[in-house]
Amino acid sequence: MNAADSSLLSRYGGNLPRYTSYPTAAQFSDAVGPEDSRAWLSSLPADQPVSLYLHVPFCDTLCRFCGCNTAVLRNADARAAYAALLHEELRRIIALIGPGRRLTHLQWGGGTPTTLPGSAMRRVMQAIRRDFDIAPDAEVSIEVDPRHLPPDYPALLHELGFNRASMGVQDLDANVQDACGRIQSWEQTSDCLDALRGAGVDSINIDLIYGLPRQDTAGVARTARAVASLRPDRLAVFGYAHVPWKQKRQALMPVGALPGPQARIDQRAAIDAVLRDEGFLPVGLDHYVSPRDSMARALATGSLHRNFQGYTTDSAPNLIGVGASAISSLPGGMTQNAVSSAAYARLMAHSADTLPVVRGVRLRPDDHVRAAIIEQVMCALRVNLGQVRARYHLSAGHFAPELSRLAPMVADGLVHVTGEQVQVTEKGRSFMRHIAAVFDRYLTADSATRHASAL
Ligand SMILES: C[S@@+](CC[C@H](N)C(=O)[O-])C[C@H]1O[C@@H](n2cnc3c(N)ncnc32)[C@H](O)[C@@H]1O
Ligand code: SF4
Repeated sequence: MNAADSSLLSRYGGNLPRYTSYPTAAQFSDAVGPEDSRAWLSSLPADQPVSLYLHVPFCDTLCRFCGCNTAVLRNADARAAYAALLHEELRRIIALIGPGRRLTHLQWGGGTPTTLPGSAMRRVMQAIRRDFDIAPDAEVSIEVDPRHLPPDYPALLHELGFNRASMGVQDLDANVQDACGRIQSWEQTSDCLDALRGAGVDSINIDLIYGLPRQDTAGVARTARAVASLRPDRLAVFGYAHVPWKQKRQALMPVGALPGPQARIDQRAAIDAVLRDEGFLPVGLDHYVSPRDSMARALATGSLHRNFQGYTTDSAPNLIGVGASAISSLPGGMTQNAVSSAAYARLMAHSADTLPVVRGVRLRPDDHVRAAIIEQVMCALRVNLGQVRARYHLSAGHFAPELSRLAPMVADGLVHVTGEQVQVTEKGRSFMRHIAAVFDRYLTADSATRHASAL
């Protein structure tokens, strides 16, 4: 961003949601609970496919930057006991949705799911294979920490049908790693990638972060160039979310060395330039993919989606989250399980068929309309409001207030509006969340303070 554009910073600063859902999790309340979840799951049409997300909130060591709700659990039996709870929650869900349901996407995330003992992981995966009909082209993925992947795990993952793994790298610079409390050598990263691909887990995603303490433009560009040389299939490039009011360990970093908004934008631009130069295609807000990757095809065919895990090729209308803090998204509404593993275990022990849900949101017709618009803005960078009006039988002029709120962004060159066609410009890519926020009827100045920096 050049000096002429830097005044954009003052006008588009502040905090905004990442719009991995709409309504966002800020709208969840305990007005929605296990009985809603039960009703929504049991009324899913039998022919509708589902996706599964399984959450494991444990790590081998904790990184100070990490915004995830994770803990170190040294006792392997306790980690196996958590896996048994996942198995049991799945059993309760199957009792509601019926066995043999088509599964199009299966993702394990965390935390670090490979902290589960291999035998426990095998039991849960075998139960999923038995109780679901996994589509032949299903993406079956898992998050791994390159510093701590047990040597026998890559072969196990291949045996259990995993075809994609996502590894955290963040930044290769020793000073930045020291500030973040995550020391990870180049060899750990490249050996992990080789071990996974060597075992047959072919598709690899790498996570990078900009905006961390002590990062600078030259350093993040070096990291991007080195990581690109490993030829991952996808890269996620996250802006560091500094939320010390939610995650106290972030305050242990040298926060005085956090880059400011202009530096964050420069770092993002530097990574973007390297990854495009290396042949990766930009996807949405924060992804880059190899042109051969399924996400590149989804982008080209307009079938890219966004859910709680970020960008996805998955088009199943139902996402079922399993495990502590996991979120489900169903046509009736969204629900979230108890966040801590202790609270999750307590709820699971309540009775033989309790669902461990503690909050959620019921979807109204207007929520579906706005969710569709926001997903298109975040994925395709364009939305035709006329087509949305026709699809949902809305009156002419329905989006007039939003179109007028877009006018300053049109003047700033962030978005083109032609009739009812809204197109995010390349300059507007960094401001995608601001454009999506125009359609968010729940966002208030007060609620925005709960989110991380929008740039
Ligand atoms: C569950 S972790 C990744 C898997 C594995 N535990 C690891 O660290 O390698 C998912 C990703 O979230 C991202 N992340 C975590 N905390 C973040 C924060 N505060 N801001 C931005 N990204 C963050 C990191 O890029 C991290 O790799
Ligand atoms: S970045 Fe990964 S390993 Fe580090 S605390 Fe977060 S989830 Fe755990």
